[in-house]
Amino acid sequence: MELEMNNDIFIKVSELLENGAKERDHDFHIMTFCTIGKEGVEARSVVLRNFDKDKNIIRFHTDYRSPKLDDIKKNPNTVCLVYSYKLKTQLRIKTISSIHYDDPIWNDSWDKTGLASRKCYLTKYDPSSHIEEKDDGLPLELKGKTPTSEQSEEGKKNFCVVDNKITEIDYLYLKSSGHERMVLDFNNNKSSWIAP
Ligand SMILES: Cc1cc2nc3c(=O)[nH]c(=O)nc-3n(C[C@H](O)[C@H](O)[C@H](O)COP(=O)(O)O)c2cc1C
Repeated sequence: MELEMNNDIFIKVSELLENGAKERDHDFHIMTFCTIGKEGVEARSVVLRNFDKDKNIIRFHTDYRSPKLDDIKKNPNTVCLVYSYKLKTQLRIKTISSIHYDDPIWNDSWDKTGLASRKCYLTKYDPSSHIEEKDDGLPLELKGKTPTSEQSEEGKKNFCVVDNKITEIDYLYLKSSGHERMVLDFNNNKSSWIAP
Protein backbone atom coordinates (compact mmCIF):
# COMPACT_ATOMS: atom_id res chain seq x y z
CA MET A 1 0.00 0.00 0.00
CA GLU A 2 1.38 3.42 -0.91
CA LEU A 3 1.41 6.09 1.78
CA GLU A 4 1.99 9.83 1.93
CA MET A 5 5.72 10.57 2.25
CA ASN A 6 5.53 12.48 5.51
CA ASN A 7 5.61 9.48 7.82
CA ASP A 8 7.52 8.29 10.88
CA ILE A 9 10.18 6.53 8.81
CA PHE A 10 11.04 9.69 6.89
CA ILE A 11 11.36 11.62 10.15
CA LYS A 12 13.61 8.89 11.59
CA VAL A 13 15.77 8.70 8.45
CA SER A 14 16.20 12.49 8.36
CA GLU A 15 17.31 12.51 11.99
CA LEU A 16 19.82 9.71 11.36
CA LEU A 17 21.35 11.51 8.38
CA GLU A 18 21.52 14.81 10.29
CA ASN A 19 23.27 13.10 13.20
CA GLY A 20 25.57 11.26 10.81
CA ALA A 21 26.74 14.58 9.39
CA LYS A 22 27.22 16.20 12.81
CA GLU A 23 28.77 13.38 14.85
CA ARG A 24 32.24 12.14 13.87
CA ASP A 25 31.75 8.77 15.59
CA HIS A 26 28.29 8.12 14.10
CA ASP A 27 28.29 5.08 11.78
CA PHE A 28 26.67 7.18 9.06
CA HIS A 29 29.51 9.75 9.16
CA ILE A 30 31.35 7.69 6.53
CA MET A 31 29.18 6.71 3.58
CA THR A 32 29.82 4.72 0.44
CA PHE A 33 29.33 6.83 -2.66
CA CYS A 34 28.73 4.95 -5.92
CA THR A 35 28.96 6.17 -9.50
CA ILE A 36 28.90 4.62 -12.93
CA GLY A 37 32.49 4.75 -14.15
CA LYS A 38 34.11 3.99 -17.51
CA GLU A 39 34.40 0.30 -16.64
CA GLY A 40 31.29 -0.18 -14.53
CA VAL A 41 30.21 0.65 -10.98
CA GLU A 42 32.73 2.51 -8.76
CA ALA A 43 32.32 2.75 -4.97
CA ARG A 44 34.36 4.69 -2.40
CA SER A 45 34.07 6.03 1.16
CA VAL A 46 33.43 9.73 1.70
CA VAL A 47 32.60 11.85 4.74
CA LEU A 48 28.95 12.86 5.05
CA ARG A 49 29.33 16.63 5.57
CA ASN A 50 25.73 17.82 5.62
CA PHE A 51 22.14 16.66 5.22
CA ASP A 52 19.60 19.33 4.28
CA LYS A 53 16.23 17.83 5.18
CA ASP A 54 14.23 20.61 3.54
CA LYS A 55 15.98 20.21 0.18
CA ASN A 56 16.76 16.47 0.60
CA ILE A 57 20.41 16.98 -0.26
CA ILE A 58 23.36 14.95 1.02
CA ARG A 59 26.69 16.78 0.76
CA PHE A 60 30.31 15.68 0.72
CA HIS A 61 33.59 17.36 -0.18
CA THR A 62 36.14 16.11 -2.65
CA ASP A 63 39.18 16.99 -4.73
CA TYR A 64 38.28 18.76 -7.97
CA ARG A 65 40.81 16.55 -9.79
CA SER A 66 39.29 13.24 -8.65
CA PRO A 67 37.88 10.71 -11.18
CA LYS A 68 34.50 10.50 -9.44
CA LEU A 69 33.72 13.96 -10.84
CA ASP A 70 34.18 12.71 -14.42
CA ASP A 71 31.74 9.92 -13.58
CA ILE A 72 29.18 12.43 -12.25
CA LYS A 73 29.55 14.69 -15.29
CA LYS A 74 28.88 11.74 -17.61
CA ASN A 75 26.11 10.25 -15.49
CA PRO A 76 24.73 12.13 -12.44
CA ASN A 77 22.69 9.11 -11.27
CA THR A 78 24.50 7.96 -8.13
CA VAL A 79 23.96 6.02 -4.90
CA CYS A 80 24.88 6.90 -1.29
CA LEU A 81 24.97 3.86 1.00
CA VAL A 82 25.16 3.88 4.80
CA TYR A 83 24.91 1.11 7.38
CA SER A 84 25.03 1.20 11.16
CA TYR A 85 25.81 -1.95 13.10
CA LYS A 86 24.67 -0.26 16.34
CA LEU A 87 21.39 0.97 14.87
CA LYS A 88 20.89 -2.14 12.70
CA THR A 89 19.90 0.19 9.89
CA GLN A 90 20.87 0.37 6.23
CA LEU A 91 19.94 3.20 3.85
CA ARG A 92 20.41 2.74 0.10
CA ILE A 93 19.89 6.22 -1.25
CA LYS A 94 19.45 6.99 -4.96
CA THR A 95 20.66 10.48 -5.79
CA ILE A 96 21.29 12.95 -8.61
CA SER A 97 24.69 14.53 -8.06
CA SER A 98 25.87 18.03 -8.91
CA ILE A 99 29.24 19.73 -8.50
CA HIS A 100 29.85 23.09 -6.83
CA TYR A 101 33.04 24.87 -7.85
CA ASP A 102 33.83 28.59 -7.83
CA ASP A 103 30.36 29.51 -6.58
CA PRO A 104 28.93 30.74 -3.21
CA ILE A 105 28.40 27.18 -1.87
CA TRP A 106 32.03 26.29 -2.72
CA ASN A 107 33.28 29.50 -1.06
CA ASP A 108 31.19 29.06 2.05
CA SER A 109 32.10 25.37 2.45
CA TRP A 110 35.82 26.13 2.08
CA ASP A 111 35.55 28.88 4.73
CA LYS A 112 33.98 26.34 7.14
CA THR A 113 36.58 23.64 6.43
CA GLY A 114 39.18 23.23 9.19
CA LEU A 115 42.92 23.44 8.51
CA ALA A 116 43.51 19.70 9.03
CA SER A 117 40.85 18.85 6.43
CA ARG A 118 42.14 21.53 4.03
CA LYS A 119 45.53 19.83 4.08
CA CYS A 120 44.25 16.98 1.81
CA TYR A 121 43.81 19.49 -1.00
CA LEU A 122 47.49 20.50 -0.93
CA THR A 123 48.75 17.30 -2.57
CA LYS A 124 50.44 17.84 -5.93
CA TYR A 125 48.93 14.64 -7.33
CA ASP A 126 45.59 14.12 -9.01
CA PRO A 127 43.74 11.63 -6.73
CA SER A 128 43.89 8.06 -8.05
CA SER A 129 46.70 8.87 -10.55
CA HIS A 130 49.63 6.41 -10.84
CA ILE A 131 52.87 7.54 -9.17
CA GLU A 132 56.48 6.28 -9.31
CA GLU A 133 56.82 5.54 -5.59
CA LYS A 134 54.85 5.71 -2.33
CA ASP A 135 54.21 9.42 -1.64
CA ASP A 136 51.29 11.55 -0.42
CA GLY A 137 52.34 14.48 -2.60
CA LEU A 138 52.28 17.01 0.24
CA PRO A 139 54.98 19.70 0.45
CA LEU A 140 57.93 18.61 2.65
CA GLU A 141 57.40 21.45 5.11
CA LEU A 142 53.91 20.13 5.87
CA LYS A 143 54.87 16.53 6.68
CA GLY A 144 53.30 15.73 10.05
CA LYS A 145 52.05 19.31 10.43
CA THR A 146 48.80 21.22 10.08
CA PRO A 147 49.05 24.01 7.49
CA THR A 148 48.63 27.62 8.51
CA SER A 149 45.53 29.37 7.21
CA GLU A 150 47.68 31.10 4.59
CA GLN A 151 49.36 27.84 3.46
CA SER A 152 45.97 26.09 3.27
CA GLU A 153 44.59 28.63 0.76
CA GLU A 154 46.73 27.03 -1.97
CA GLY A 155 44.39 24.00 -1.71
CA LYS A 156 41.20 25.92 -2.44
CA LYS A 157 41.59 25.49 -6.22
CA ASN A 158 41.53 21.70 -5.68
CA PHE A 159 38.51 21.70 -3.37
CA CYS A 160 34.95 21.10 -4.46
CA VAL A 161 31.53 20.27 -3.06
CA VAL A 162 29.24 17.50 -4.30
CA ASP A 163 25.52 17.81 -3.60
CA ASN A 164 23.41 14.69 -3.97
CA LYS A 165 19.68 15.25 -4.35
CA ILE A 166 17.70 12.32 -3.04
CA THR A 167 15.21 10.63 -5.37
CA GLU A 168 14.65 7.42 -3.37
CA ILE A 169 15.56 5.89 -0.02
CA ASP A 170 15.43 2.15 0.61
CA TYR A 171 15.26 1.87 4.43
CA LEU A 172 16.02 -1.47 6.11
CA TYR A 173 15.83 -1.95 9.88
CA LEU A 174 16.90 -5.35 11.19
CA LYS A 175 15.18 -6.49 14.38
CA SER A 176 14.58 -9.88 15.91
CA SER A 177 10.81 -9.32 16.18
CA GLY A 178 10.61 -8.76 12.40
CA HIS A 179 12.70 -6.78 9.93
CA GLU A 180 11.23 -3.57 8.48
CA ARG A 181 11.86 -2.31 4.97
CA MET A 182 10.31 0.70 3.27
CA VAL A 183 10.93 2.56 0.03
CA LEU A 184 10.53 6.33 0.13
CA ASP A 185 9.91 7.69 -3.37
CA PHE A 186 10.76 11.39 -3.40
CA ASN A 187 9.72 12.00 -7.01
CA ASN A 188 6.13 10.96 -6.31
CA ASN A 189 6.04 11.84 -2.60
CA LYS A 190 4.98 8.28 -1.76
CA SER A 191 6.27 5.47 0.36
CA SER A 192 5.53 1.77 0.62
CA TRP A 193 6.56 -1.26 2.68
CA ILE A 194 8.54 -3.87 0.80
CA ALA A 195 9.75 -7.37 1.68
CA PRO A 196 12.88 -7.17 3.81
C1 LIG B 1 37.28 6.95 5.98
C2 LIG B 1 37.49 7.58 4.63
C3 LIG B 1 36.94 8.81 4.36
C4 LIG B 1 37.12 9.41 3.11
N1 LIG B 1 36.54 10.61 2.85
C5 LIG B 1 36.64 11.16 1.63
C6 LIG B 1 35.92 12.35 1.30
O1 LIG B 1 35.20 12.94 2.12
N2 LIG B 1 36.05 12.83 0.05
C7 LIG B 1 36.82 12.21 -0.89
O2 LIG B 1 36.88 12.69 -2.02
N3 LIG B 1 37.50 11.08 -0.63
C8 LIG B 1 37.42 10.54 0.60
N4 LIG B 1 38.09 9.36 0.89
C9 LIG B 1 38.93 8.76 -0.17
C10 LIG B 1 38.05 8.04 -1.20
O3 LIG B 1 37.52 6.85 -0.63
C11 LIG B 1 38.77 7.73 -2.51
O4 LIG B 1 39.87 6.91 -2.27
C12 LIG B 1 39.22 9.01 -3.24
O5 LIG B 1 38.27 10.04 -3.11
C13 LIG B 1 39.46 8.76 -4.73
O6 LIG B 1 38.27 8.32 -5.29
P1 LIG B 1 37.94 8.35 -6.86
O7 LIG B 1 39.18 7.87 -7.55
O8 LIG B 1 36.82 7.39 -6.99
O9 LIG B 1 37.57 9.75 -7.23
C14 LIG B 1 37.91 8.76 2.13
C15 LIG B 1 38.45 7.49 2.41
C16 LIG B 1 38.25 6.92 3.64
C17 LIG B 1 38.85 5.56 3.91
